[in-house]
Amino acid sequence: MAGQIPQRFIDDLLARVDVVDIVGERVQLKKAGRNHAGLCPFHQEKTPSFTVSADKQFYHCFGCGAHGNALRFLMEYDNLPFPEAVEQLASRLGLEVPREGADDPRAQARERKRQEGVNLLELSASFFRERLKMPEGQGARHYLAERGLSPEIQAAFGIGYAPDEWESLKRHLSARDIPEAVQIEYGLLVHREESGRTYDRFRDRVIFPIRDVRGRTIAFGGRVLGDAKPKYLNSPETPVFHKGRELYGLFEARQANTRLERLVIVEGYMDVVALAQFGIRNAVATLGTSTSEDHLSRLFRMVDEVVFCFDGDRAGRQAANRALEVVLPLMIDGRQARFLFLPEGEDPDTLVRREGPEAFVDRITCASPLSEFLFDQAARGRDLARIEDRERYASQVLAAIGELPEGLLKSLMLNELSRRTGVERLRFEALMARAEGGAGQPAEAEAASVVSAMPSAVKAAGTRPDRMPLGLVARILQLLVHEPILVERLPEADDWYPEGDPDVPLCREVVRLLRAGRYRSGQVLLAHFHGSDQGQRLAALVKREMLIPRDARAQELDGLVEHFRRHQRRPSCQERIDALLAKQHSGERLSPEERQRLMTLLAELGS
Ligand code: CTP
Ligand code: MN
Repeated sequence: MAGQIPQRFIDDLLARVDVVDIVGERVQLKKAGRNHAGLCPFHQEKTPSFTVSADKQFYHCFGCGAHGNALRFLMEYDNLPFPEAVEQLASRLGLEVPREGADDPRAQARERKRQEGVNLLELSASFFRERLKMPEGQGARHYLAERGLSPEIQAAFGIGYAPDEWESLKRHLSARDIPEAVQIEYGLLVHREESGRTYDRFRDRVIFPIRDVRGRTIAFGGRVLGDAKPKYLNSPETPVFHKGRELYGLFEARQANTRLERLVIVEGYMDVVALAQFGIRNAVATLGTSTSEDHLSRLFRMVDEVVFCFDGDRAGRQAANRALEVVLPLMIDGRQARFLFLPEGEDPDTLVRREGPEAFVDRITCASPLSEFLFDQAARGRDLARIEDRERYASQVLAAIGELPEGLLKSLMLNELSRRTGVERLRFEALMARAEGGAGQPAEAEAASVVSAMPSAVKAAGTRPDRMPLGLVARILQLLVHEPILVERLPEADDWYPEGDPDVPLCREVVRLLRAGRYRSGQVLLAHFHGSDQGQRLAALVKREMLIPRDARAQELDGLVEHFRRHQRRPSCQERIDALLAKQHSGERLSPEERQRLMTLLAELGS
C-alpha cells in the first residue's frame, strides 16, 4: 500500500493553487463579475452555465450540477484517480507528495520504478522522433509522405522511426543508466530466454507513440514500411500499458479540440492519423482489441456521443454486434451511440483520401442511431411478413432493450417495438420482466415494474441483478460523497440503518465525520480514508455514475431512509418475502396465489 497522503498536505496544496488557473488551462473562461464563466466541460451546452469562483476556489455548473475544487476538477476532467490528481497539482508547485509511512522502503522502490518507467518511455519516444529526421529515417519519411501524412500531423502524433538495427535503442537507453531489466519490463527490449540475449523490439518500423489522456507516452505501436509480417507490432502489457483500456488518439483529439462533442471509434492507427490529416481530429482507435466497457465509459465521460466505425463486411457486422452489446447498458439518457458502416474494402484512411473530408463527415453525420441499427440488425435475414420471423425479431430486439438502463430511451424503444410489431407494449413489458426473472433473481424484476411507489434506487437495484446494483446503503454513501451537505437531512438518531448491509459501518463513520463538521467536500473525505479498504470502497462509489439529478438527490435520500424505517417496522413482511423468493430461487414454481401474495407484499413494502 502506498501510504496515505497526509490531510495537511492536501489542504496546503489546495491553498496554494488557484482553481481558476487549473480550469482555465482546459476550459476557455471569461471573467464575469467576481467569477469566471465558460462552457461546461462536463455536459453539452451552447450557452455558458459553468462558473469558477476564485474567492471560494470552487467551480460549479448550473446546468448539470458538476462542482468541486481544483482536485475534483482534475479527477473529473483528466479522468485521474485521487492520488494522481494530487501528484499533478503537487508537481505544478514542484512539491513532492509525502506519504505517511513513506520511509517504507517498498513504497519508495515502487515510486522510483514508476518514475523510471515514465522517463524511459519519454526517452524512447524522443529517440524514435530524432531518428526519423536523420539520414537513416529516409525510407520512413518517404513512406509517411507516400501515405499522405504532413510533417505537422507527424509532429502532432509524435510519429517516429525505429532504426533497422538490433541494439540502437538499447544502447541509447543503457547509456542513460536505464537498466536492461527495466527496458525489458516496459517492452522495449525483447529477452530471449534460451540465449539470454536482448535486442530492440522495434526495428525498421514507423513508430506511433501511444499516449495516455495526459499526453505521457505509455507504449508504442510500430508499422513495417513494406508488406512484411506482422504489419503492426505493439508494446506488450506493462505496468503502465493495458491494451484493453487505452485508446490511440484520445490525447491528440483533446489537444486539437477544446470542446469535443463526439468521438469516432475506428480500427487502426493509420485511420486516426489519416482522418486528422484531413481535419477530422476526433477519431480514436482501440489497440487491436474490440471496444470494451472500459473504453466506452472513459469516452462517455468526455463526450455524449460516440460513433462506431466498421468495415462493411461480415466481420464488421459482427464487430458492430459486439459493440452494441457493450454499449447498451451504458446508454443513460443524454448519451448517443451511432453506427457507421463503410463500403466493403475501404477503411477510414482509404475512404477519406478517396472521397475527401466533407463526404466522410457526411457519413458520420448520417450514421445510424443505435435504435435504428438495433431494429435493422434484428430484421436482417428475416421475412417480417411471417409470424415466426416476426416473433424472433421481437425477441431479439426485446432482449437488447432489456439491457438498456431505465430511462427515456428504453421507454421509446418499447413504444417503437410495439409500433413495428403491432403488439401491445404492456405485453413486452411483461415478457421482459419474465426474461430477467429467468436470469436468476425472479420476482424482483417483475415486482419493480409493478411496484411504482418504491424509491427509484430500490427499483434500480431490482431491475439489473446481473450488473452488481449498488446496495441501498451504498446509495446513501454515494449521495453523501457527492454532496456532503445532504448529511443534514439524515435523522439525528442512527436507528435507521438496516441490518446486514456490509456498507453500514463505513456509512456510520462517514456520517459521523460529516456531522463533526471536519469535512465539507467529498474529496477531502476521500482523502481521509485514502489508502484503506474503506477508501477504496468510497472511491469506487464516487467513480460510479451519479444518475440522480441534483434536485432529486435530497428526495432520494429521504426516500431511502424512509424505506429502511418501514422495513424495520415490518420485519415479518420482509421475512415472508424472503421465504417466497428463496422458494422460487430453489427452482420451485410459486403457485398463482403465492405469486399474488409476493406482489402484494412487495407493493406493501414499497408503499
Ligand atoms: N493490428 C495489430 N497487429 C496486426 C495488425 C493490425 O495490432 N498485425 C491493429 C492495429 O492497431 C491496426 C489495426 O489493427 O492499426 C487495423 O489493422 P489493419 O486494418 O490491418 O491495418 P490498417 O490500420 O488499415 O493499416 P494500414 O492502413 O497501415 O495497412
Ligand atoms: Mn488501412
